[in-house]
Parts: sequence; structure tokens; C-alpha cells
Amino acid sequence: MKRVFSGVQPTGNLHLGNYLGAIKNWVAMQREYDCLYCIVDLHAITVPQVPGELTDNTREVTAGLMAAGLDPASCIIFNQSRVSGHAELAWLLNCFTPLGWLNRMTQFKEKAGKRRDSALLGLYAYPVLMTADILLYHASAVPVGEDQKQHLELSRDIAGAFNRAYDVDFFPLPEPMIFGAATRVMSLRDGRRKMSKSDGSDYARINLTDDADTLALKIKRAKTDSEPGLAFDPERRPEAANLLSIYAALADEPVERVAAEHTGMGFADFKGRLADLAIETLSPIAARMRELLADPAYIEEVLTDGAERAHAIADANLARARQIMGLLGD
Ligand code: AMP
Ligand code: TRP
Repeated sequence: MKRVFSGVQPTGNLHLGNYLGAIKNWVAMQREYDCLYCIVDLHAITVPQVPGELTDNTREVTAGLMAAGLDPASCIIFNQSRVSGHAELAWLLNCFTPLGWLNRMTQFKEKAGKRRDSALLGLYAYPVLMTADILLYHASAVPVGEDQKQHLELSRDIAGAFNRAYDVDFFPLPEPMIFGAATRVMSLRDGRRKMSKSDGSDYARINLTDDADTLALKIKRAKTDSEPGLAFDPERRPEAANLLSIYAALADEPVERVAAEHTGMGFADFKGRLADLAIETLSPIAARMRELLADPAYIEEVLTDGAERAHAIADANLARARQIMGLLGD
């Protein structure tokens, strides 16, 4: 059966971009494929973290994934640092990754900014660790939001470089799976910026933990443009296009249909409808998340059990990679 791997960082609240761009698709795939979903704590530490907050966020994201519909009986849910093979394979793959490939990564350039010399090696090597995550399980399908496309192209290059170096067909080349009506959810404050966990304004994003009043208020305050009626024109009217895409993804409908149905409608009316839909779909997730968080022992059990199952697959693949490379051991 096709193996699926994807990851999410425990760096703060899960938001609507995570849900519509990735997690909703993970849920849809869990019963059809052999799926591993990872809370990537080793990726989170590429920027400074407060230890206690990292622990809490790891539990919270685990609860969020289950509240959104992931079932530990149908897929493997675990946190990355518990399976040491991720870090070990990342080192091996570092030795097949030219600096030139990493220098092209736009996420690194954005995060490092102008201060390249003080940027951390971990942040730079982040996409190699991501490659190791996937290849450690020989996963071939990787459901992510659009922002991860470049990293996945790199992972294909690294897998190919390893295979060529040893003349083997060992690592499958990972395929990005980017689907749904909202593969790139934009900030509610600026339709040209991605919705992200790190945005300074909480009004820029919808968190999966937001209550009904907060959801309604954030949508009401979402930035619009000055044209009289709605239309789907991402280039010229990014805010309108974003709201229409969010609606389509929440309703599980094609954006073209949603756009056709609402063309010409005023923003205020549409926002009312969108708020109702968001409350209807997201409130049950928030409620379930609160229930799950009240039982940390259960969350711990899910993560330890997931790590054990992940370990079994990882160990066999890592042993084979070591063997191919001529590294002595078992
Ligand atoms: P991160 O929060 O960076 O760990 O992202 C976890 C997953 O959510 C990845 O698959 C991302 O591509 C996806 N994602 C994050 N932000 C967005 C967004 N604004 N729109 C769509 N997908 C997103
Ligand atoms: N880099 C991804 C993000 O920030 C998270 C991630 C880490 C990931 N390892 C992965 C996604 C492996 C897919 C596959 O969104």
C-alpha cells in the first residue's frame, strides 16, 4: 500500500491554513493509505523555543490533529524526536546535499533575513531533516500546503542523489500532494501574505481553538477591498479570493462554484455566511480538542504508541541505508 508521510510543527496554535491546506487532507487519506503523521519538534527548535511551551504545544497539536479527525487506530501519530532515526538519517543525507541546493530555499531566505551570518545551521539544514522524515519511512506521497512545494522538490533531488551515488533504487522520490480549494490560505489582514502561526496579529488568522464569537469577529474584521461586489480574481482582489477559497474548502465545494454563486454579493452578507459555516465546521473541533486536552495521559499514550510503531519501520530502512553506504553495524 502507498505510504503517506506529513508533518506539522508544534510552534503554536493550529490555524485554518494548517487545517485546510494539510490536516483536512490527512484525515481524508488515513483509511486509504498507510499514513504517518508527525509533530515535528526537531524542526520547531530551528528557532528559539521555551521548553515548557514546546512540550505544551506538542500535546496541543496532537490533540488538534485528533480533534480534526485523525484516528490513532487508522494512522500513526507521533512526535519526531522520539524516533532517533530522523536525526541520524538527516546526517547521512547532509552528505549528499550541495550547499547550492539549500541556498535556493525561499523559506530559509525569508526566515534568515539579511542576517545570514548569524542564521543557525539547523535552520539552513531544515529541508534536509524534512527529507529524512519522509525517506526514513520510504513514503512516496506527502500531503502539504503549497508553501512546502519547494522543499519537496529538494527532497526528490536528495533521494535521487543518494540512489545515483550507490547505483541503487533505494529511496522512492516523494510526490507532493497539494489539493483542496485552499492550498494557500492567506492572512485575514493582508491577502498577499500567508496565514501563519508567527503573524504578530491574532486577527490575521483563525485558530482551531477560537470560540464562535471570536470566529465571527475575526471574519467580520477581515480586510476587504473597495469594490462593490465579490468576484474571484486572486491577482487583482486577493482578499475576496481568499474568503471565497476558505468558504469553498470549508464547504468541500469547488471554488468556481462558490464564486459563481456569490459573484456580486456584498462583503458584509458574504462574511455573515462564511462566519456561520466556519462556526458550524470548526466549533466541534475546538470542543473535542478541549476534551482531549483534559486527558494528557491519553495523549501521551497515543504518542508513545505511535513512536513505537514508527520506530519499527524506521529502523529497518535506516539499517539498509547504513548497509548500502558501508557503515559497519547491525
Ligand atoms: P507548519 O505550520 O509550517 O508546520 O505547516 C504544517 C502544514 O500546514 C504544512 O503542510 C503547510 O504547508 C500547511 N500550511 C501552513 N500554513 C498554510 C497556509 N497558510 N495555507 C495552506 N497550508 C498551510
Ligand atoms: N516543513 C513542514 C512545514 O513547516 C513540516 C514538515 C516537516 C513536513 N517534515 C515534513 C511536511 C515532512 C511534510 C513531510 O510545514
